[in-house]
Amino acid sequence: MAQTAQPTMRAIAVDRFGGPITPHTLPMPELGPDEVLIHVECAGVGVWDPYEAEGGFAQHYDDKPQFPFVLGTEGAGTVVDVGNQVRGFEKGDHVYAAELVHPKGGFYAEYTAVKARDASPIPGTLTVEQAGAMPIDAITALRGLDDTLGLERGESVMIFGASGGIGHLAVQLAKRMGARVFAVASGEDGVALAQRLGADAAVDGHTDDVLAAARRFAPGGIDAALVTAGGDAAQRALQAVRDGGRVAYPAGVEPEPKGRQGIEVTSYDGEIGPDVIATLNRLIKAGPFEVYVAHVFPLDRAADAHRALSKHHLGKLALKPS
Ligand SMILES: NC(=O)c1ccc[n+]([C@@H]2O[C@H](COP(=O)([O-])OP(=O)(O)OC[C@H]3O[C@@H](n4cnc5c(N)ncnc54)[C@H](OP(=O)(O)O)[C@@H]3O)[C@@H](O)[C@H]2O)c1
Repeated sequence: MAQTAQPTMRAIAVDRFGGPITPHTLPMPELGPDEVLIHVECAGVGVWDPYEAEGGFAQHYDDKPQFPFVLGTEGAGTVVDVGNQVRGFEKGDHVYAAELVHPKGGFYAEYTAVKARDASPIPGTLTVEQAGAMPIDAITALRGLDDTLGLERGESVMIFGASGGIGHLAVQLAKRMGARVFAVASGEDGVALAQRLGADAAVDGHTDDVLAAARRFAPGGIDAALVTAGGDAAQRALQAVRDGGRVAYPAGVEPEPKGRQGIEVTSYDGEIGPDVIATLNRLIKAGPFEVYVAHVFPLDRAADAHRALSKHHLGKLALKPS
């Protein structure tokens, strides 16, 4: 009797944690009852992806994935199938999604199955490329500004690393939350991006006297700071935060920013969930919103994309699986 061949897809996977990142042909993921199957048109490439490939998330979350293990924690595309318990999604919907733990395989693939709670319709006028590159950095930006710093309308905020993945989104979200934004960006191109995205002031954190500029911007001291890159420059800039001010940084920023007496410094995670996704979508829809995608690599060049992460670029990198 003739057997129906199991459908396959192209994907980028590792055969063991720490091993080479290579193209594979693998079975398509099976759809669970609470999942949607996404035809992935853009996968974000995050600075944490090499950590994932080393097994960092699997260890952290005590996950025991199968090998070959398909990489990729975020992306966007079109829903091609919907689990029988899922409400609110239909075949043909354009969605974005993010999952740090994905035992059935991640977004570096033509198809991925994700929990419906981790997916959302693409908001506003974002392209599928922008939506795929955005999720984790946008969620982390918002968790920092809203949940961790508790940023209030009319407050001043420093975004350190303002032209990076989290930073360029944080500039726009903070403006939309009614804050005055002092952006510390990387390079002339980074400063230009931060200005274009609405920062009230923008300086180059590699060449400018950030502390002097921050004191001119907020003579009484800056109310809050979101730090996405650690080191001496960040530490010096934080002297501009006022007594009683707040500093937040996502876990993973090294070296970790230090406070001084009277300043609250908090490390946090960009936890994914329906609440933060709903707030993010609402803020994005409130006006023009830009996700800056510096470069989109073909799927088979995922290893090149990982190498590009450590070179100067603005915004995010991405892969095009299909
Ligand atoms: N815990 C979580 O949930 C979570 C989630 C997402 C990200 N993270 C962590 O958050 C950090 C940032 O993530 P990301 O995606 O935003 O990374 P990213 O895109 O690399 O952003 C960091 C930015 O900081 C810039 N920078 C470095 N030194 C600077 C300086 N002196 N002045 C101005 N800019 C400077 C970098 O530019 P140059 O390279 O050109 O200097 C880069 O654009 C990473 O450590 C990541 O692991 C944590």
